[in-house]
Amino acid sequence: MENTNREGFGSSFAFIMAAVGSAVGLGNIWGFPYKMGSNGGFAFLLIYLILAAFVGLAVMIGEHVIGRKTGMSPIAAYRKISKKFTWLGYMAVIAPFVILCFYMVLGGMVMRYACSYLTAMIGWNTWGVETATDFYGAFRINGVQMVLWTVIFIAINTAIVCGGVGGGIEKFCNVGMPCLFVILIIVIVYVAVQPGAVGGYQFMFGLNIDPLKEDFLKVLKTAAGQMFFSLSLGMGAMITYGSYMSKKEHLQRNAVIVVVMDTLAAIMAGMIVMPACYAFLEGNTRGGPGLLFDSMQAVFYNMGGFIGDLMGFLFYFLVFIAAISSSMSLLEAITATKIDSDIAKGKAPKRRITALVFSIIILIFCLPTALDGIGMGTANGAALPTPAELFGLDWAEAEGIKGFDKDTTYYTLGEDGAYTAVEKGTAFDESTTYYLNTTKTWNDCWLDFYDVISEGIIMPVGAMIMAFAIGWIWKIDMVKEEIEASGTKMWGKTFFNICYKVITPLGMIVVLYGQLSEFFGI
Ligand code: PFF
Repeated sequence: MENTNREGFGSSFAFIMAAVGSAVGLGNIWGFPYKMGSNGGFAFLLIYLILAAFVGLAVMIGEHVIGRKTGMSPIAAYRKISKKFTWLGYMAVIAPFVILCFYMVLGGMVMRYACSYLTAMIGWNTWGVETATDFYGAFRINGVQMVLWTVIFIAINTAIVCGGVGGGIEKFCNVGMPCLFVILIIVIVYVAVQPGAVGGYQFMFGLNIDPLKEDFLKVLKTAAGQMFFSLSLGMGAMITYGSYMSKKEHLQRNAVIVVVMDTLAAIMAGMIVMPACYAFLEGNTRGGPGLLFDSMQAVFYNMGGFIGDLMGFLFYFLVFIAAISSSMSLLEAITATKIDSDIAKGKAPKRRITALVFSIIILIFCLPTALDGIGMGTANGAALPTPAELFGLDWAEAEGIKGFDKDTTYYTLGEDGAYTAVEKGTAFDESTTYYLNTTKTWNDCWLDFYDVISEGIIMPVGAMIMAFAIGWIWKIDMVKEEIEASGTKMWGKTFFNICYKVITPLGMIVVLYGQLSEFFGI
């Protein structure tokens, strides 16, 4: 029998697990610990918590309210509240689509790691390279494998979303999320007793005031961007899940729980990743995909033996649960949109076929991400060029310079077509043409290209306008009415009113500025 769209979550627990599942994802595991450690440790955490309370919580409540009040997915929901804002709904559907064009690839990669650790436990080496630490370099440029694992990951997502809210998402998250927290605890405890682990806690939690003194704005924008992505805001996912929340639910309490659990999961993930890098990699920590696929791989390799494989499996399995419970919320947001549109047109909704068709389209758009070697490009053996390689945007003549700027690296172009960095201290020569490497995060690989469109622009703009509209146009009473529909009193009405009117839009401007400066180097 076809599942219809509007069955809803069966219990309070199910809603919370699904929303926490959406929030806890790759962002918590590779973004949070690293950013916290290199941006002031405990001070960063404090700023993060303030932002989560003043900006994140308000947007989370706002999205749940919009979803539950209308009982609709983003486009229909915004249209129902005000026709003039339907375009915000479109943004909230395009963004998850674009995010999935890289998130699915990363999810597939995580699965590959988990599977190889599982087989390694029974002595079967499936890495395909002599030492497991060489795996990432070989894997990322192996187009067939990258696409294969992306297909597998997408297929699991499709199967779950085809099962509907109650039969698929709820069933998975009810078991997956508690499982994730149990695995987190097991691995945290194992890592904690390793010699040298303490350096990781110091890196993460130490009160490191320097970054705050040097560039407070950088810390602020890093924390704001991280908080926002981590809480799954501005992406239609929370609106869609909100639409499945029963009117009996305590909406405001649920939102607080989701924010707290997401932050807790991020800190807990950090308590694995950072101490492990200190205990097994002499404190060699870094951010981005390299942390997850390279550094952590080296950690488990250095742990060695059966225990290294077991811990490796547990770790990548927990990352898999985190990734898939996030990606399914994005696929659900897109699928629900089409279902709602069919219902509105009087057609019978076809959940399965809709989820399948979207999955195939997403797979096609995932191909560039999977095939450019995560930024390696054809120059390093990948099947497809990176955006920078394709559009030739990576070098520019340093025009009109009268001398070297101390913070910039200049290059000269050799006869063989290769660029060589000018060594620091070299005298400036007016007759030489100097070049700048203009490859920015936005075009260095397809992953970042998709990321800048979604996380960089659409998410912050969408959430900023939503908060502004709640504060000034639809008014706080809309939020109050919806929260109180369950018979529970809204607390902090004045506080949230100020948040929607002023603090949240301002906070979102910081997020937007942070994203643009990170991606475009502004
Ligand atoms: N919150 C997820 C993470 O931290 O990885 C990513 C994400 C999922 C963002 C769902 C947005 C979203 F709607």
